[in-house]
Amino acid sequence: MDSADVAACWEANAETWTRHARAGYDLYRDALNTPAFLANLPDIAGLDGLDIGCGEGSNTRKLAEAGARMTAVDIAPTFIRHAQETEMQAPLGIAYREGDGTALPFADASFDFATAFMSMMDMPRQDKALAEAARVLRPGGFLQFSILHPCFAPPYRKVLRDEAGTIRGIEVGRYFDGVDGEIETWRFGAAPAEVKASVEPFRVPRFHRTLSEWVAMIVSAGLTIEHMAEPRVDAETAQAQPYLADTHIAPLFLHIRVRKSAAA
Ligand SMILES: C[S@@+](CC[C@H](N)C(=O)[O-])C[C@H]1O[C@@H](n2cnc3c(N)ncnc32)[C@H](O)[C@@H]1O
Repeated sequence: MDSADVAACWEANAETWTRHARAGYDLYRDALNTPAFLANLPDIAGLDGLDIGCGEGSNTRKLAEAGARMTAVDIAPTFIRHAQETEMQAPLGIAYREGDGTALPFADASFDFATAFMSMMDMPRQDKALAEAARVLRPGGFLQFSILHPCFAPPYRKVLRDEAGTIRGIEVGRYFDGVDGEIETWRFGAAPAEVKASVEPFRVPRFHRTLSEWVAMIVSAGLTIEHMAEPRVDAETAQAQPYLADTHIAPLFLHIRVRKSAAA
């Protein structure tokens, strides 16, 4: 599966994804993943930032609200159209454009930092995506990205519950399978049943890499890991929000911040 096939899948997802994410059904993102990502972000006020795989722009807007001058790209035109419409209604100075994270339409050393919220594992050539992010960063700049956790969310993952419904473990498999473009179909689990029933499921091409493959790609891109995080809910939140409780047992997401050498 090449970039054009991936783009076609995301373009087909974009309308429902935008509507449902904006209705609050992307609960992992809004209640756990993005707050943890932002809590781990260095101060970005006054910096030039690039958000890679921005979707409808929710996270890009948070970066702009934190004081960064933001540019954002996504491969799906419908996501970019929705993001631009929101920018026109409530301007934050964000420049959105269509673009492929594996062939970024920017000159070398254009940005102080880059982010990629849950987009890099959706790209067929993550090695190129990391190299491209490194290319457009200024010396000393950083890239912070989140991905499905390679170890605890490989292509096979099942949440194990006891008879009372309490989560006791996560079963994982296919960790070493070289999955390239296998399509996973799902809807946002937090959407009400009738809403889920009213739409076609998302079709998400999956490009799974092991943890050591991710580290090898980061090293090959000339980047240095400086921070990693595995967001989870605490025990009280797990009780109050059962939908997120699996992350109290084992992480669903992995956050990595890497830096380009100041001497580069
Ligand atoms: C899981 S969504 C995350 C969207 C957004 N970052 C968020 O957190 O709400 C993955 C996004 O990556 C985009 N994407 C996938 N492959 C891409 C590529 N090669 N270049 C740029 N964007 C890509 C998709 O169109 C989609 O918007």
